[in-house]
Amino acid sequence: MGNKIVINGANGYVASHFISELLGYDYEVVGLVRANNENDPVERMQQTLSEIGHNNKNCLKNLEVFNYSLLDKDFGMKVDNLKQVFDRKVDFFHFAASLKYSERDKEKICKTNITGVENSIKTFQKYAKPGSRFFYVSTAYSCGKISTVFEEKFYDNAAISEFRNYYEKSKREAENVVKKHIYENSLNAYVIRLSQVVGDSESGVVKTDYGIFDFAKRVYYFATKYPGKTIRVPVNPDATQNLIPIDNVVEYFMKLVNLQQLPVVIHFVSKYSIKNECIKKAICDILPVNLVQDISIEKEDLNELERMVLAGMAFTIEYANTNLQFETTTLDEIIAPNRKEITEHSVSKMIEWFLSDISKK
Ligand SMILES: NC(=O)c1ccc[n+]([C@@H]2O[C@H](COP(=O)([O-])OP(=O)(O)OC[C@H]3O[C@@H](n4cnc5c(N)ncnc54)[C@H](OP(=O)(O)O)[C@@H]3O)[C@@H](O)[C@H]2O)c1
Repeated sequence: MGNKIVINGANGYVASHFISELLGYDYEVVGLVRANNENDPVERMQQTLSEIGHNNKNCLKNLEVFNYSLLDKDFGMKVDNLKQVFDRKVDFFHFAASLKYSERDKEKICKTNITGVENSIKTFQKYAKPGSRFFYVSTAYSCGKISTVFEEKFYDNAAISEFRNYYEKSKREAENVVKKHIYENSLNAYVIRLSQVVGDSESGVVKTDYGIFDFAKRVYYFATKYPGKTIRVPVNPDATQNLIPIDNVVEYFMKLVNLQQLPVVIHFVSKYSIKNECIKKAICDILPVNLVQDISIEKEDLNELERMVLAGMAFTIEYANTNLQFETTTLDEIIAPNRKEITEHSVSKMIEWFLSDISKK
């Protein structure tokens, strides 16, 4: 068996799927979860695992959950608990992040996504045994408004005008916090950049409403309220989304914990992107709506219904006209040379599952 695995933001979408897989392979896992008003961290973690279909109670014996506070000294944890967490060599995964994006939330985004990483590194450096590794989970969209291939290397911090939103900017800056500690304090660290994580490529099950599913949910709402309408959205049908199924992401994370020699910056992305046209078709095949994607439409020309749809697309619309290209060398050569790529069919299956699921709710 490999290192002990410690994960913060453990109850999140991607982290919980990774934990479920680790437990299935008998890894010893520590999940750091913050309490909320209704539930303590153990209940939150168990609830998330059960929601994603992890029903093997036997595996839970290898999972320990601790309450923590991302921004406080020593994570606000008792020293004895920290010593227990870091009692031997660990792979520490920093998943915790604010996925907000707007200027209004910029302070919160910076605190969680930059100061939070700084504090995680501090705690890791103080307690982790030699040979432990720190993995920072970033995003491929830290690329900002790049027009060339985004490479598996560090990029300098830049002004907000170089990014689509504060989320992207904060993730770029956090990557550079990691870089600084690698070079100045010999931190044994890696940056993993994910593109948009979707559902399961085989079953079609989707347990996130982020990105394209947020859009599908919004269209569902209006299509069922006003069936049969044409809704025009200022989206380029030929622009693309880089979607990566959760089962692929989990497979790649499992590879990471088993590999000792790794490059410092690694992309978990799809080699081929999916056109907006395909996503639209999948939605229109199911819902009573005629969606029209036309990037030339001016906001002033939209009718009231179309404006309401657009109002809910503040985040997704920023990605409506992109054709981003990401380097995939590490996946191609080290992590998953024979991987299955996402297909239009699997995306349609996910959208179908997602829309059927929300109709039941
Ligand atoms: N999902 C994607 O498509 C995608 C794409 C690219 C990169 N990523 C990166 O992957 C990571 C996980 O994303 P996800 O989609 O799984 O997100 P998620 O489901 O929203 O999970 C985020 C986690 O971070 C925790 N968190 C947020 N603010 C916190 C704070 N102030 N203190 C402590 N914990 C806090 C959340 O805890 P609470 O539940 O208590 O809020 C949750 O456990 C993030 O770093 C994200 O940037 C995700």
